[in-house]
Amino acid sequence: MAVLSIKFLGIDFPNPFILASGPPTADSSQIIGAFHSGWGGAVLKTISLVPSKHPASEVLTIRSGRLRWGSVGVESVSDKSVDQWGEEIDRIRDSFPNRPLIASITGENAPSSWIELVSRLQQFPINAFELNAGYSNFEGDVGFGTELGQDIQTLAKVVDWVKSASDLPLIVKLSPNVTDIIPIARAAVDAGADAFTATSGLLGVGGVDTYSLKPLPWENGVGLSGEYTGPGLRPVALRWTALIAKSLSAPIIGCGGVFTWQDAAEYFTVGASAVQIHNAAIWEGIQIIDDLKSGFERYLERMKLSTPSDLVGRALPHIVGFNDLDLDFKLVATLDESECIGCELCVRVCNDGGFQAISMVGDIAKIDNSKCDGCGLCIYVCPPDIMEMVPRDQIER
Ligand SMILES: Cc1cc2nc3c(=O)[nH]c(=O)nc-3n(C[C@H](O)[C@H](O)[C@H](O)COP(=O)(O)O)c2cc1C
Ligand code: SF4
Ligand code: SF4
Repeated sequence: MAVLSIKFLGIDFPNPFILASGPPTADSSQIIGAFHSGWGGAVLKTISLVPSKHPASEVLTIRSGRLRWGSVGVESVSDKSVDQWGEEIDRIRDSFPNRPLIASITGENAPSSWIELVSRLQQFPINAFELNAGYSNFEGDVGFGTELGQDIQTLAKVVDWVKSASDLPLIVKLSPNVTDIIPIARAAVDAGADAFTATSGLLGVGGVDTYSLKPLPWENGVGLSGEYTGPGLRPVALRWTALIAKSLSAPIIGCGGVFTWQDAAEYFTVGASAVQIHNAAIWEGIQIIDDLKSGFERYLERMKLSTPSDLVGRALPHIVGFNDLDLDFKLVATLDESECIGCELCVRVCNDGGFQAISMVGDIAKIDNSKCDGCGLCIYVCPPDIMEMVPRDQIER
């Protein structure tokens, strides 16, 4: 039987599903509710010495038709002071003395602001710090955001300040908005960082109201770029997780677009040892933890693995560069013609995708193997899911 518990940085988590820093972790009542529901741990809403007011319109849901594709948030740090957080943490500890609590922190570009913050916070019963290097107003708002995680020297300095003031483990939540994350992650490790969260959100402008011409989300007629988070962040954060895991030995928490146990499993396979979740806990509700835990446990059993740790990095050997591809290996689309409902969706994508390999014969789709390029577009649009890709030499034998 598989067990979900993990040890991360020496801290015992009952399962690897951690609530990410943000509105769901903004106070003790929400965190206590989440822990009762079974979440493995929580990262507190980012705390600074100077509590902040939140913008009037702080999060925009990005839609395409009826589907939600993510959020752009311009929310600032917690509106609670360090002392208020002390009371919140005590309340959580009354009900959950041992469930891992990670304090997310940010400060100014000066040692005193970080050192005072961690010195005060570590008096409370927390397990670790998470340095929010993706906070997009680090140096004050310059209109389009500046992130600590984009500035290698300053990040290294800040890690050093925090480590000089605390013995608690330090996780650095990296920014995805960089050309190469590895030198930044390496500088953080060299300065004393113990682990990473990969990653915070992508900087983006949520949208524009095309009639009022106001950027979205907006406050009193003006707007700024914010953090795009949710499903579209997942491929970016997965890539950064894989690259960090291939280059450095520090453990990683995957973060970005986890909505299902399958999404979480992907992060493990590319090197994460736990995952953080934010949008899914809001959109699907905190009870989503039930499906995450039961689905992941059954998956581990099907894979004959005993713990989530057994899955860490298992896909990494299969992630290669373009030059390592065997370009002579070819796939071709096939379909079960007896199940075709004649919707013609595959014909449209193949035609407009550039290959013209499918045509309708009566109400049935037919594939011309000589024209099929093996692109794989058609199999994702087929409503009854009767198309699959097979190696070309299999059908030509
Ligand atoms: C409205 C909003 C507020 C957030 N506040 C914080 C924050 O205070 N600190 C932080 O580190 N991340 C914050 N995040 C980012 C989340 O912690 C998380 O990294 C991000 O949403 C990606 O995870 P997801 O795709 O599962 O939502 C916030 C995100 C949103 C949308
Ligand atoms: S795999 Fe690509 S080229 Fe082949 S039939 Fe499908 S859409 Fe056309
Ligand atoms: S998409 Fe599927 S069901 Fe529709 S025509 Fe093509 S093979 Fe048939």
